[in-house]
Amino acid sequence: MEEKNNTIVIDGKAIAQQIKDEIKKEVSDIIDSGKRPPHLVAVIVGEDGASLSYVASKEKQSKEVGFTSSVYRFPNTIKEEDLINTIDFLNQDDEVDGFIVQLPLPKHINEQRIIERIDPKKDVDGFHPSNGGRMMYNMPAFIPATPMGITSMLKRSNIETVGKHCVVLGRSNIVGTPLSVLMSRNNSDTNCTVTLCHSKTQNLKEICLSADILIVAIGKPEFVKEDMVKNGAVVIDVGIHRIEDKTKEKGYRIVGDVAFEEVKNKCSYISPVPGGVGMLTVVSLLQNTLKAYKKEVYQ
Ligand code: GUN
Repeated sequence: MEEKNNTIVIDGKAIAQQIKDEIKKEVSDIIDSGKRPPHLVAVIVGEDGASLSYVASKEKQSKEVGFTSSVYRFPNTIKEEDLINTIDFLNQDDEVDGFIVQLPLPKHINEQRIIERIDPKKDVDGFHPSNGGRMMYNMPAFIPATPMGITSMLKRSNIETVGKHCVVLGRSNIVGTPLSVLMSRNNSDTNCTVTLCHSKTQNLKEICLSADILIVAIGKPEFVKEDMVKNGAVVIDVGIHRIEDKTKEKGYRIVGDVAFEEVKNKCSYISPVPGGVGMLTVVSLLQNTLKAYKKEVYQ
């Protein structure tokens, strides 16, 4: 962690490496005991640049911790039924512990039908309604990667959460909504009072100013400004955007949903972009895969 004017800039890369080292050690012990390693499969449809790079990162990091990693690649033209058949095949393959279908899918495929076809026991993305429901009722569940990465980040940075006011900006299915549930659960890791804000929220600025922990997943570059943040708040930035910047060699720079330079001096902790939450998402997927392998969520 780097200190700037008493503000701690959370080092997502270091936390991710710490967790990966723990997984790697566990996998090595599994292999030493004569068992097969955990196996994660990624299914990708089409050639979307961002999806290809996410899947490449999942494959690379799976291998780094000693998992078996497979990628099933299909063209954009694949029929929904063929994708369903692939999911049925992966569901029944005992040598596959967990799999993900990279989103978004082409328009002609019903994404919800695909997600619901995945066996919840292998749903290491935590997107199946069964896992969402289990999470909601504080039962063992696969937690979606970004919300899980954020709670790991808070915990491993020793950030006090119990009884704090956590404001979540954004209510997407994969970040804001599950995160709001996770942050409010009655366990020692979170236990916050949560306010979930979205596009129809009134008095957004006032609500943000009352946040002890402000988590921003709103999808708008540098949306959160200095005058929206309480002194001493913890600010976690989930956004990632490429914005034009002619002063840079590449012609762009990467920013988050928070105006980092002006907000950072007000915070006790802040997660940067890049190098923050994004470093933890694949690691959380690996943690879920290990849990699936050990049958820790569903017996
Ligand atoms: N697309 C963007 N993020 C994700 C993710 O976490 N999982 C899957 N399957 N697709 C995504």
